[in-house]
Amino acid sequence: MDSGFVARAQATLAEDTSVVPEFWQSKYKDEAARNWDKFYNRNTTNFFKDRHWTDREFEELRPGYAFSEQRPVLLEIGCGVGNFIWPVVERNPDVFVYACDFSPRAVGFVTANERYNADRCRAFVCDITKDRLAETIPPHSVDLVSAIFVLSALPPEKQAAAVANIAEILKPGGRVLIRDYGVYDLAQLRFKPGHKLEDNLYVRQDGTLSYYFSTDRLQELFVGHAGLVEMENDYTLKRLVNVKKDIDADRVFVQAKFQAPLDTRSLEQAMEGTRVD
Ligand SMILES: C[S@@+](CC[C@H](N)C(=O)[O-])C[C@H]1O[C@@H](n2cnc3c(N)ncnc32)[C@H](O)[C@@H]1O
Repeated sequence: MDSGFVARAQATLAEDTSVVPEFWQSKYKDEAARNWDKFYNRNTTNFFKDRHWTDREFEELRPGYAFSEQRPVLLEIGCGVGNFIWPVVERNPDVFVYACDFSPRAVGFVTANERYNADRCRAFVCDITKDRLAETIPPHSVDLVSAIFVLSALPPEKQAAAVANIAEILKPGGRVLIRDYGVYDLAQLRFKPGHKLEDNLYVRQDGTLSYYFSTDRLQELFVGHAGLVEMENDYTLKRLVNVKKDIDADRVFVQAKFQAPLDTRSLEQAMEGTRVD
């Protein structure tokens, strides 16, 4: 990122010295699933649009990409109502898609969708920070895990457990595809005082959490804690101009790809101590 942009963003963030009181911090964290469930109760399937751009950003999602000799298996964590999975299912007739979310209502919208076909999909309720994915999905059986704007919903102290959980079901050589909010994103800079829990972690008006990632933090989680190999880990900036709302600023995203080593023993050694029980 441009050093002038970073300096201005850091100056803006430094102005907000308040933090949310401990009681409320615990409440937002403890009630995260409930708050997302309410979000889907209010917005049903109308909030996010189907994500048709994903195959432009990740070659693994293009039809015919040979990421597996057998039927390729993908797991979408934090699937919401399925906006990521439907274009993938439509484009790739061979792929089998697991999709999980900790909001029962969101999972209900996925299974009720006319595009849901039990021969090709399995959606289930799971809190990726505490429910073991390997209870539902055989260990080391998944080619691709997609994490699209979901890791940012987790408080930092729960992120390593979620990553270890994912690593356990990845095939040797399997990949995690990540797109999420980056540090100094417009949304982070626009939080008013009273929303910050700690550096880079905020609560939105509706009680859901939003963490803003640095590429270093992603590396620490996926390489440092989980023993995966970094293939891509960058910031993506998109200029957003809206004259009516007086906005001329940058959206900052992180886009990353990490691969499980071909030797699963090294993965298991790296994960010792961070596994979800
Ligand atoms: C911004 S939405 C993204 C939905 C979807 N990935 C997409 O691309 O449209 C984040 C989703 O993560 C889910 N989520 C947040 N924390 C979770 C957790 N600990 N376990 C499982 N799902 C979680 C929320 O319920 C929500 O559906």
